[in-house]
Amino acid sequence: MRIAVVGVGHVGLVSAAAFGRWGHDVVGLDDDAAKVATLREGRAWFYEPGLQELLDEVIAAGRLTFTSDPVEAIAGAEVVFACVGTPALPDGSPNLAYLEAVAHTVAEVATGDVLLVEKSTVPASTGRRLEQVIVREQARLGKSHRIEVASNPEFLREGTAVEDTLHPDRVVYGTSSDWARDVLRRVYAPLVAQDGCPVVETDVATSEVIKHASNAFLATRISFINAVARICEQVGADVDVVADGMGHDARIGRSFLSAGLGYGGSCFPKDVDAFAHLARQVGVPFRLLDEVRAINVGQRRLIVDKLRQELWHLDGKTVVLLGAAFKPGTDDLREAPAMYLAEELAAAGADVRIYDPVTSAQVAARLPDVQTHDTVGPALAGAHAAVVCTEWDEVRALTPQDFLNGLAYPIVIDGRNAYDPGVMLAAGLRYHSIGRRSAERQEA
Ligand SMILES: NC(=O)c1ccc[n+]([C@@H]2O[C@H](COP(=O)([O-])OP(=O)(O)OC[C@H]3O[C@@H](n4cnc5c(N)ncnc54)[C@H](O)[C@@H]3O)[C@@H](O)[C@H]2O)c1
Repeated sequence: MRIAVVGVGHVGLVSAAAFGRWGHDVVGLDDDAAKVATLREGRAWFYEPGLQELLDEVIAAGRLTFTSDPVEAIAGAEVVFACVGTPALPDGSPNLAYLEAVAHTVAEVATGDVLLVEKSTVPASTGRRLEQVIVREQARLGKSHRIEVASNPEFLREGTAVEDTLHPDRVVYGTSSDWARDVLRRVYAPLVAQDGCPVVETDVATSEVIKHASNAFLATRISFINAVARICEQVGADVDVVADGMGHDARIGRSFLSAGLGYGGSCFPKDVDAFAHLARQVGVPFRLLDEVRAINVGQRRLIVDKLRQELWHLDGKTVVLLGAAFKPGTDDLREAPAMYLAEELAAAGADVRIYDPVTSAQVAARLPDVQTHDTVGPALAGAHAAVVCTEWDEVRALTPQDFLNGLAYPIVIDGRNAYDPGVMLAAGLRYHSIGRRSAERQEA
């Protein structure tokens, strides 16, 4: 099939490469000329394990090209996947202007019947809105091709995006006609034949809700265990063992029950807010999600409180943040808890250093007053405290002795429960993590 992918970012580029792997002819369109230029040289513009190899393969097979010309990408395409960003607006609702722009473009340049598929994460009823936009634009332009809108949400996780896309847990799509459903069946037929993954076929609004409900639920699990962690700290329990004990229950499971600094990234924060916003808009407030958000924001404050407990004033103290990316395996800094912490600590007068194995140049560009390091030794040297923000392998591999040798004061605040508290405390570190044994409790 001839497929256009509009927006070759974290979702669009991986999806475009996967469509190529499944034998389709794919053109990736992006309005960012610099990204297109990099991609035309055959290079991914962001870091994602396995992506470069997949691009090499699909580009060499002649199944994937890139352009910033909408006509080149969309004219002649049977299906257009919109993978543009839907970032949060100040009121929590997502900015759908980029998606609307795609609908305008498709209405303008389509040369035949085409299915426009929302792969971007959007609130329910966006599909209906896009169809209105298209009908109006077509009437204005005197065009009459069949252009329908479908929903096909994406569930990939950054850091494992290639694997998640090539071997998804499920494919979900929502359509409003047999024709549209058959187009998407043909897109995914090679995947289903190879992988046998389940397919959920439904209507557009249901498909849109599946995505928001999935992310809101996962974020709820994270905030739930973080709230449990706070109780554990007060009563001397260990949240990791609590999560293990809960997770053995087949009804609960262990995933997304890791206490820590809270969720970040370009999806959970905005999707929780967007779903809560939609709920308010349709008159059924989802207050649970407001609490999920509040707990998440509170986790960062907890880290600052723990630092103050140990260091008293932060003014003039040097704090090293270990990890900046919102999670290991990605160079994405969007909504990364470390970025918030860096700003908060700097505002309190601390000298902030950040170690990250892949994002240090990006961090330096974004936070020019922060000292950045891509090797951990110099980052630790002489700092008054270290805070674990991203559990990169390089961070997990640090030993108590590395901290004792490097830091001026032996203080480690572990926002990702990356180390064994028994080992850290026994080595003489002032070690605090989330919802587990800490230096104070040891003394008590
Ligand atoms: N990143 C993830 O892990 C993830 C996972 C699932 C779903 N999603 C959703 O997918 C969508 C895209 O997210 P992302 O992380 O890939 O964003 P991104 O910012 O990495 O990529 C979006 C791309 O769209 C391009 N773009 C914007 N407007 C355009 C236009 N009119 N024409 C052509 N190109 C345009 C941008 O230049 C950019 O390259 C969002 O709705 C997000 O919520 C993201």
